[in-house]
Amino acid sequence: MMRLDKLLSHAGWGSRKQVRELIRKGRVQVNGQTVRKDDLHVDELQDQVTVEDKQVSAPKEIVLMLHKPAGVVSAIRDDRYPTVMDCVGTLPGSLFPVGRLDRDTTGLLLITNNGALAHDLLAPKKHVEKTYEVVLKKDWDPRWQTAIEQGLTIDQGEVCRSAHVCQKDTRKILLTLHEGKYHQVKRMMLACDNEVAQLKRIRFGPLMLDETLAPGQWRFCSEAEIRALKQGRSQEERQKRIV
Ligand code: URA
Repeated sequence: MMRLDKLLSHAGWGSRKQVRELIRKGRVQVNGQTVRKDDLHVDELQDQVTVEDKQVSAPKEIVLMLHKPAGVVSAIRDDRYPTVMDCVGTLPGSLFPVGRLDRDTTGLLLITNNGALAHDLLAPKKHVEKTYEVVLKKDWDPRWQTAIEQGLTIDQGEVCRSAHVCQKDTRKILLTLHEGKYHQVKRMMLACDNEVAQLKRIRFGPLMLDETLAPGQWRFCSEAEIRALKQGRSQEERQKRIV
């Protein structure tokens, strides 16, 4: 969603002041209806916006994959640290990260201008799978496997959803979660009498981290990848209807 005056201005119809004049004069229509509120929020990807019958082209949908480096925060702005948006540089439209990784976590982070897609990918009830490569400070004790699969209790009784562990090395596991609690992997490892030394997200839903991207590098997601992200959503919707 985006303010109507911002959308018109970004689409080249003039400064904010000029486009507000257009709106007040009744020259702008949203889905065929004349609107006079410049602070109206429109869905730039769904709503039909016209200025006296001329189509206002919506900003293109952007979804990109960043290999987040350590040391940057998953925010649009920050007073103290560089942000993931600094990695991406200047692109048209209002982009934002899909969820958060801790400052010291590396790996796959999606960045988009599609608010509805981001919302769906993050909705707790969608259970989008995320896989983390976890390097541990102590050897992995496989006796924790069952507890993790059944739903580990962390901190003061917070119960995690069932997760999946695959041991890769004495001090390395792959952990797949279906939710995204605050500092979840770190808190789960503390509950398993261990501690995270390094954390990297290697999968988000249907997408694997593109290992040709060095930390700090990004690329646009392909149409097939965007379709897969959206299909994940609609598959969940279909399943809900069947059950
Ligand atoms: N779990 C964490 O503890 N940190 C992250 O950045 C992501 C998942």
